[in-house]
Amino acid sequence: MPTKSKILDGKKSSESIISDVEQEIISLLNDDMNPPKLGVVLVGNNPASESYVRNKIRACKKAGIEHILIKLDETISENELLIEIDKLNKSDIDGFIVQLPLPSHIDMQNIINSIDPSKDVDGFHPINFGKTALGLPSMKPATPYGILKLIKMNKIETKGKHVVVVGRSNIVGKPLSIMLGNDFSIGRATVTSCDINTPKNLLLSELKRADIIIIAVGRPGFLTGDMVKEGVIVIDVGINKVDGKIIGDVEFDSVYEKCSLITPVPGGVGPMTISALVINTLNSWKSKYKIKTKRYEKGNL
Ligand code: GUN
Repeated sequence: MPTKSKILDGKKSSESIISDVEQEIISLLNDDMNPPKLGVVLVGNNPASESYVRNKIRACKKAGIEHILIKLDETISENELLIEIDKLNKSDIDGFIVQLPLPSHIDMQNIINSIDPSKDVDGFHPINFGKTALGLPSMKPATPYGILKLIKMNKIETKGKHVVVVGRSNIVGKPLSIMLGNDFSIGRATVTSCDINTPKNLLLSELKRADIIIIAVGRPGFLTGDMVKEGVIVIDVGINKVDGKIIGDVEFDSVYEKCSLITPVPGGVGPMTISALVINTLNSWKSKYKIKTKRYEKGNL
């Protein structure tokens, strides 16, 4: 009998979501409507950001979502960028993202705060973070939302499980820890939130008793096989470039030996973030046309 794969295939799950979104758009679109449209703001020439943006645009095209790409020079001032965002807020576009990171002379939080929450398809605005934390309908932060989708689609139980989230960024670790503790079908977990400042022995003892580990610290190969228990499920959010190769925050080979399931890098969380962005854009478009969306049902993913 073939052994069951331990790989949590984010690419496959993402493709299935994007194809569902495509079907839904085809079924809803009529002559009185414009197709959904996403705006993508890219400041500067960061090669990693350019590559993420290309992948986001490719996914939108597959789903039947139109896009506009607004490329801005590295030297743009914060005020000039705020003016661009104001234009997008007032446009008929369904949603837009500002690809991060931004150049260091721009205050990222000021930029996020200026995005109309109803067009914030990354789910980064404080209003969307707050609503998500309270379990209210909202645009959900893209990467945590994608991870919950991956958990759901692979029928992984979180209720009553001990989940350790390593990393406490505003866009991944912090919202994810809260969402996993919410009282929804994917949630109801006992969550420990750690970061790289957690004392090594405390971090180790938490990791060793974790049923599920989600790691987003941006340190290549940080999590090794000796830090986890047999049968653990590992979700690797890290995307690090080392010697021209993309690797995650997990030392894949040693952790693979012990885990029951693991996301690869690339092909794990990355594509799920993109599919979450596509769902948020679909939902924003539907709410513009007053089409009821499952988003408004309590706890629905
Ligand atoms: N940079 C890294 N991840 C993300 C993301 O999910 N959205 C945006 N806008 N920028 C990012």
